[in-house]
Amino acid sequence: MTFAWALATYGHAIQVARGNRHAQVAGQRGDCILPACGADEHYRIADANGKGKTAPAMDDHTLRFIDLFAGIGGIRRGFELACAQHGRPSECVYTADIEPFACEIYRKNYPHDSHSPLNDVTRIDDYGQAMGRVDVVLAGFPCQAFSIAGAKRGFEDTRGTLFFDVAKIIEDRKPQAFILENVKGLVMHRGGRTLRRILEVLRYDLGYASTQFKLLNSLDFGVPQHRERIYIVGFRDGGGGFAFPRPTDSSKRIRDIVEPGPVAAKYYLSEGYLAAARAHRARHEAKGHGFGYEIRSWDDYAAAIVCGGMGRERNLLRDDRIVDRTPQTHIRSPINAENVRRMTPIEWERLQGFPEHWTEGVADTHRYRLLGNSVTVNVVKAVADQLVRELKDPQMFKPTEHGQLELSYELAASV
Ligand SMILES: C[S@@+](CC[C@H](N)C(=O)[O-])C[C@H]1O[C@@H](n2cnc3c(N)ncnc32)[C@H](O)[C@@H]1O
Repeated sequence: MTFAWALATYGHAIQVARGNRHAQVAGQRGDCILPACGADEHYRIADANGKGKTAPAMDDHTLRFIDLFAGIGGIRRGFELACAQHGRPSECVYTADIEPFACEIYRKNYPHDSHSPLNDVTRIDDYGQAMGRVDVVLAGFPCQAFSIAGAKRGFEDTRGTLFFDVAKIIEDRKPQAFILENVKGLVMHRGGRTLRRILEVLRYDLGYASTQFKLLNSLDFGVPQHRERIYIVGFRDGGGGFAFPRPTDSSKRIRDIVEPGPVAAKYYLSEGYLAAARAHRARHEAKGHGFGYEIRSWDDYAAAIVCGGMGRERNLLRDDRIVDRTPQTHIRSPINAENVRRMTPIEWERLQGFPEHWTEGVADTHRYRLLGNSVTVNVVKAVADQLVRELKDPQMFKPTEHGQLELSYELAASV
């Protein structure tokens, strides 16, 4: 039986490194911590007078995670749901987003956090001080071009991008695992070179050899939204048993998420707006361009909800349950006779797998934008479910599983 021990150097939290694992247990300055023989959950704490006491190392079992580019907390919600399902305690120890409205919604939904979500990922002075031990990194980082130098310069090549900041945090905090999320466009960004470099950095520079990626569609995870996003998952140790989730439920259609009763007149298009949208579409079609405006059948699924441009017009619905036809626009154009309306923020919340009213408290325009920028909670939960399972019972990863595979081959295998 070997004892690893460490002198407590600060206050009540004492960090102990045991092989690759870290534990934080309650103690006093001057205390000496000894892992109890073979038990993961308990550490013997010998106080300064040499008296032994056994204390549960609560934080050893608790997955301490950080939520980067957190938005309204969609990735966190999926992750926490998966942890709860596995009976694995989790604690968000750091959050970063720079958008005030996103942070307002985040605070509303996570009122017990002792840290503020308003942080800039590029301006963290001291990761250790800001976060302490980190077991899992969650990050839906924005996709940006790298200036890839001719000769490989490791992840220095990605400097100036937000991925670089994520990589630096992973390098410094050495989490057990990470989940990164991005738009589908990352796969073919600069002919696949961006994703290739990201994978190289994660696998070879940072040592997360088991890093895998997959495009997942929200449509396959219990919400009627065609939304493809890339998920990248890696483990510091193990990872051989991790597989991306298989579809859980592809049966949902728009009628499953439609509001149960009539919705406010403000969601209905005015006669003039609908006519203009139709004319605009006709012009674009004549030129051979696609155009986002689309009236969807209730038996269809929704197009991906997006924050910019015609985002709301891609998922129009006919809804005859209107009770109040008072014109809503400032020019007092009557509500269209076909009863075409936009989806409501609550319907978008359901399309993203959030509980209703998650984004309540800010203006509708912000709710749509924040939801369009967010993730589908169900998809993250399904991915995190597999991740937590692997962390519980890590399987050896054989590097040949990725080896020198071509990205195109990996992509073909991943879809
Ligand atoms: C695609 S959204 C991610 C949304 C999030 N996954 C969710 O569930 O809502 C990207 C987020 O990154 C944030 N962001 C951009 N630059 C940032 C930075 N330097 N530091 C922190 N957050 C940043 C944006 O404000 C935005 O909310």
